[in-house]
Amino acid sequence: MIQETKALFIIFGGTGDLARRKLYPALFKLYQKNYLKKHFAVIGTARREWSDDYYQEIVSQAVSDEDTVTEEAREFASHFRYQSHNVNDTEHYETLKILADSLDQEYSIEGNRLFYLAMSPSFFGTISKNLKDQQLVTEKGFDRVIIEKPFGSDFPSAKKLNDQIRNTFDESQLYRIDHYLGKEMIQNLMAVRFGNSLVESFWNHRYIKNIQITLSESLGVEERGGYYDTSGALRDMVQNHVLQLVSILAMEPPQTFCAENVTKEKVKILSSLKYYSKEELDNHFVRGQYAENPARPDEYSAYRQEEKVDEKSSTETFVAGRLEIQTPRWKDTPFYIRTGKRLKDKTTQIDVELVNHSLPLFGEKETAKTVFSLKVDPDKGISLYLNGKKAGPIIELESIELSKLYTKEELVNSPEDYEKLIGDVLKGNSTNFVHWDELAASWKFIDHIRGMWDSTTPEFPNYPSGSMGPEASDKLIAQDGFSWFLN
Ligand code: BG6
Repeated sequence: MIQETKALFIIFGGTGDLARRKLYPALFKLYQKNYLKKHFAVIGTARREWSDDYYQEIVSQAVSDEDTVTEEAREFASHFRYQSHNVNDTEHYETLKILADSLDQEYSIEGNRLFYLAMSPSFFGTISKNLKDQQLVTEKGFDRVIIEKPFGSDFPSAKKLNDQIRNTFDESQLYRIDHYLGKEMIQNLMAVRFGNSLVESFWNHRYIKNIQITLSESLGVEERGGYYDTSGALRDMVQNHVLQLVSILAMEPPQTFCAENVTKEKVKILSSLKYYSKEELDNHFVRGQYAENPARPDEYSAYRQEEKVDEKSSTETFVAGRLEIQTPRWKDTPFYIRTGKRLKDKTTQIDVELVNHSLPLFGEKETAKTVFSLKVDPDKGISLYLNGKKAGPIIELESIELSKLYTKEELVNSPEDYEKLIGDVLKGNSTNFVHWDELAASWKFIDHIRGMWDSTTPEFPNYPSGSMGPEASDKLIAQDGFSWFLN
């Protein structure tokens, strides 16, 4: 039997795109599944002046298909209230407190509060301080804070932000979101790695030649040019999603799946990443920026022509790199990472290339690669590529695929990333969130690269939209004698 959690959500950034696209639908799913029911309420805040009625209409639309708003959606939305709020104005927190206390009473919530920070991080410190000073943080019940990225833009800014928030909240009350940690197949990665002795037996440098992580996107920066041009792919994707995947792939088995043990192992990996010298970095990292595609000029525009992007911008929209993890398990096994916008496809995939000392019985022809692949998006599944015999009269090898692709029916019960993650916050489970120690180690590593990159001006643009990135990305891996498995 599902036990409902009593909770009052206070969402800072309640009129935003993220709230409409992700949060309200996620909360609605939790409501439909009875994790939230009678004893919950939501206060949405933002600068705009909205009435409760208007807000409830927006929420019901956000959780409905096209024009058909169901009775259930309306009932759900009736738990929502709106307050126009200037985060810098202390008086507004007083009104917010009155509203929060009255909703707490009305819905018998017993003091459980979830503060959702879905707005510019520059306000997080002020908001946290005011929540404490104006006593919105309750004594009874729990207080938890959900924090959206970006958490800082480098280590010093992340630390400053963290220190400000920590004046009000303990680390154990903070839930820093990395939506990749809510993805079905990323959670499956832990199950596959630690649920099979077979996998664990080859999961090391003796049997793995290299690991390739690709997070490719076909879209450009769309309407986010203003943010993206100050961020770039290194900060936007590598610092968080890519390094999180690296740490899960490389970590030692945690003692248990509790947040403390998982964090401990992830931090060990993030702290053992090799810091390159300038020369090594030039050899092991590639950055790129998309251009038009001369063959399809009407289809794509160059990054520099995107809205709110500097026309001489040196911001990278692509990163490929070779990471070295200095632990006994990964001695001499490179981890290749690759992410970018306006690439050929939208695909997230991890390919683990295994050693193959096949016996010289099959003639001159090279055997195909032995690869273990984890398909994260859009397909979700696991494949093992082995050499087998081609059906026929002679012994001839061919690559065969043993594969498990999750079907739509199987995935029907799998919650979306945000639903899963908010559900975890309701349960007080922070395993799939980013601990400060992970964040600190990731930023330090990224700052090191950024610092060296910022001292030179790259020759951009250097890859056509719709390709798999700059040629240098293929050379990067080819110089070690490998090639990208996913093309
Ligand atoms: C976000 C980045 O964190 O992840 C976006 O800010 C990116 O730039 C997105 O598009 C990719 O997420 P997903 O789940 O679509 O792979």
